[in-house]
Amino acid sequence: MQPLLISFAAATSALIVASSTIQGASGYFQPNSTGIKLQNGYERVYIQPFGNHGMRVRASIMRDPTGNEWSALLDPPIEGPGGNNGLGHDITVPYQGNATIRNGNLTASITLGVLSFFRVEPNGSTTLLTKEFTDTKAILPRFYTQDFRSSSFQSQFDFASDPDEQFYGAGQQACCMDHSVNKKGQVVDLINYNSHVTLPVYMSNKGYLQYFNMPSEGRIEFGTLRTRHVASEATVVDYYITTAAPGDYDALQRQFTAVTGRQPTPPDFILGYQQSKLRYFNQTQILDLAQRFHDEEVNVSLIVVDFFAWKYQGDWSFNPEFWPDPAEMAAKVKSLTGAEMMVSLWPSMEDLSINYLPTQMQGILATTKDGTGVSDSFAGVYTRLIDSTNPAAREFLWKRLNDSYYSAGIHNFWIDQADGGTLGEAFENNGQPITQMPWARAFSQYFIGTQEAAGKMYPWFHQQAINEGFSNLTGKDISTQCEHMSLTRSTFVGGQRFCSYLWSGDTDSTFDVLLQQITAGVSVGASGISSWTVFAFLTKITETVQGRELFVRWLGMGVFLPYRPCLIEVCRDRVCSLPLDPRQVIANPCPNEPWSYGEANFVIIKKYIALRYQLKPYVKRLFEMLQQTGKTIMRPLYYDFSLTDPFVVNGTKTNDYTIIHQFMQGPRLLIAPVGELGATTKDVYLPILSDEAKSQGFTWTHWWTDKDFGTGGKLVNVDAPLDEIPVFYLGSKDDILSGSV
Ligand SMILES: *[C@@H]1O[C@H](CO)[C@@H](O)[C@H](O)[C@H]1NC(C)=O
Ligand SMILES: *[C@@H]1O[C@H](CO)[C@@H](O)[C@H](O)[C@H]1NC(C)=O
Ligand SMILES: *[C@@H]1O[C@H](CO)[C@@H](O)[C@H](O)[C@H]1NC(C)=O
Ligand SMILES: *[C@@H]1O[C@H](CO)[C@@H](O)[C@H](O)[C@H]1NC(C)=O
Ligand SMILES: *[C@@H]1O[C@H](CO)[C@@H](O)[C@H](O)[C@H]1NC(C)=O
Ligand SMILES: *[C@@H]1O[C@H](CO)[C@@H](O)[C@H](O)[C@H]1NC(C)=O
Ligand SMILES: *[C@@H]1O[C@H](CO)[C@@H](O)[C@H](O)[C@H]1NC(C)=O
Ligand SMILES: *[C@@H]1O[C@H](CO)[C@@H](O)[C@H](O)[C@H]1NC(C)=O
Ligand SMILES: *[C@@H]1O[C@H](CO)[C@@H](O)[C@H](O)[C@H]1NC(C)=O
Repeated sequence: MQPLLISFAAATSALIVASSTIQGASGYFQPNSTGIKLQNGYERVYIQPFGNHGMRVRASIMRDPTGNEWSALLDPPIEGPGGNNGLGHDITVPYQGNATIRNGNLTASITLGVLSFFRVEPNGSTTLLTKEFTDTKAILPRFYTQDFRSSSFQSQFDFASDPDEQFYGAGQQACCMDHSVNKKGQVVDLINYNSHVTLPVYMSNKGYLQYFNMPSEGRIEFGTLRTRHVASEATVVDYYITTAAPGDYDALQRQFTAVTGRQPTPPDFILGYQQSKLRYFNQTQILDLAQRFHDEEVNVSLIVVDFFAWKYQGDWSFNPEFWPDPAEMAAKVKSLTGAEMMVSLWPSMEDLSINYLPTQMQGILATTKDGTGVSDSFAGVYTRLIDSTNPAAREFLWKRLNDSYYSAGIHNFWIDQADGGTLGEAFENNGQPITQMPWARAFSQYFIGTQEAAGKMYPWFHQQAINEGFSNLTGKDISTQCEHMSLTRSTFVGGQRFCSYLWSGDTDSTFDVLLQQITAGVSVGASGISSWTVFAFLTKITETVQGRELFVRWLGMGVFLPYRPCLIEVCRDRVCSLPLDPRQVIANPCPNEPWSYGEANFVIIKKYIALRYQLKPYVKRLFEMLQQTGKTIMRPLYYDFSLTDPFVVNGTKTNDYTIIHQFMQGPRLLIAPVGELGATTKDVYLPILSDEAKSQGFTWTHWWTDKDFGTGGKLVNVDAPLDEIPVFYLGSKDDILSGSV
């Protein structure tokens, strides 16, 4: 079928309703308009002030957006003007019109129908940030393709960019060869699957952040001269842009999280050590495990029960054959170790589940274009997906989770495999992997729309289900402080507002991927999602000396990540010669507890776990700052050093490993993980400190020896034995350990 192409450029003659303009008392320039509507034939574009120094733009064809399309934007924003305004506007610009409005330091101008954004500088001059990309004979910057069978369209929006501009964020691409912090030159696919949590948001080193408030699949192309956002299916193109002084990434994050949500502070236990494996398959094993942690005097804060503790997929309960008394188990774990428990939750539903008929009858399973709803197969059965985008499905799911787990004292949930479309893996035909089949296939249909139009937010609604459950059950406001957590393999923009934390998916446990994970983590942090940790999955952790070394290196890095030093999957999957239990689905019997990597390593592992507990006050403080102002926890070097260190700017631009394989944890710690087998020393780049840091007397000080290495601007070589991950600190160690930063 031939699609109809509809596209637009532009307009004359302005019909401007001026509104008054006042410089606020704080020096903040209050919006001088409630919004512009450009009526461009059958296209319309709304531009409204939104949040501090921000604008929201919505564009549609044939009809106005309903205003009820799904949105991760908080309306009104937590901070700043705008919001509560629907499609309100006081300026109407017809075909070929001009108009300019200002909010704080951001102005939006329509000139002959083309939209540009400027920052107003302190001296009153303006700097062009970006504009809709136009050129002689170039495809029009707002481009829509409509399929006559539906009232939606595919959109393609182009924005001008400078050849040497840098772009950061775009969510998590954890795939193996993508060691990048600067995304310029890349194509980022907006689709979810295991370890791929790309997000339609990026920051520019020119001092702006742009976010496409659309759950559509599609892609972002960071081309030489233009940045293109493509949405596979939409009824409105909805984006937000905000500006700050170049180099002030904390301000961009503050403004962005004020319109998309702030991470509530986590309960203390998520800052400690967490133990899991693939998998403990019965209650006795968990009790033995807790007893051993108790006897070895190793701190543990969370013990996790992985998948297939259920009898049938979709039961959302323990199989009583192997888990006779969950409440007793949780109570014993708590009394022996103080640890909380977590269980895995999959979205898949098989026909034999007790929940199959009720969910099918209520229409709360996702369906497919062929009507069957079958979207995957796993462990020998075909499965459907619970449609968590439907409020009734969320209520149903939570009721089961409450009955089976929460009321038994197991309060934390691991949202695994809920990437949407399928189970987020290469399609399996009854257990036979066909690895070249596409992942999230586009034929799923949800309450909120199709996989193409809305599938990016399927995981987000699972987070919401559990969040609502917590808050309904406890009757507490959990928007700023959490008592429980969910752990999730995927999310969408705004997912940070939940008591829910992202991990990087089932990545390979190799040294190369260990380093790559740093770039994935800082990129997702630059997208507003700061509570993040790594896993390393699959079969590379073996009984060999090398495998154990990799494990310890990985654990060392985990100590300095926002949460969870023992990355469950590292700790979860080992290869050994023990046989699998034939009664169990994928239950690796190989030991993976801290004491199972040899005596010498156990000493090191205990040292790292103890260090993590020592650092808890610091990490807690970082989460408080995240909650208050959206300040990113895991920080790429450009955040803190682009204004002082040209080498950081250059290295970030070219994705130089010297720069992008290091990160700051909060404002005081620089981490340079070792990503090489057998290394005994490590070259670490110490960035040039700002005048402000110098005036506080800060110097780079080696964590393990307290040796002073000066104010930066040089590569240094430090000892890096297995028990001493290279770390440098600023200021006093006592302040760091007591959390007074
Ligand atoms: C709109 O702006 C353009 C470019 O500055 C100018 O050529 C045109 O005359 C303006 N139109 C109106 C109606 O002011
Ligand atoms: C708003 O302020 C900007 C910058 O001062 C100005 O260019 C623009 O014309 C004003 N718009 C209105 C509608 O007052
Ligand atoms: C105003 O400030 C901008 C940004 O700092 C700078 O590029 C420009 O040169 C300044 N203009 C004047 C006239 O000082
Ligand atoms: C932006 O506006 C604030 C007032 O809210 C002002 O203090 C600041 O200097 C401005 N920043 C830039 C880069 O113009
Ligand atoms: C639980 O697992 C242990 C192996 O760790 C096994 O010896 C025991 O028989 C299992 N119990 C049940 C009820 O399966
Ligand atoms: C939480 O309570 C609200 C209000 O009663 C209800 O609409 C919602 O479905 C509940 N959520 C869950 C997950 O039970
Ligand atoms: C949660 O479970 C408890 C115990 O079974 C029950 O009393 C309570 O009503 C349940 N709450 C919800 C919201 O289902
Ligand atoms: C275990 O955790 C407690 C509470 O955080 C702490 O006081 C204690 O020092 C920790 N023990 C070790 C060995 O790290
Ligand atoms: C940055 O790179 C440019 C060339 O790309 C080079 O001229 C300059 O010396 C570099 N600066 C630093 C501080 O590395």
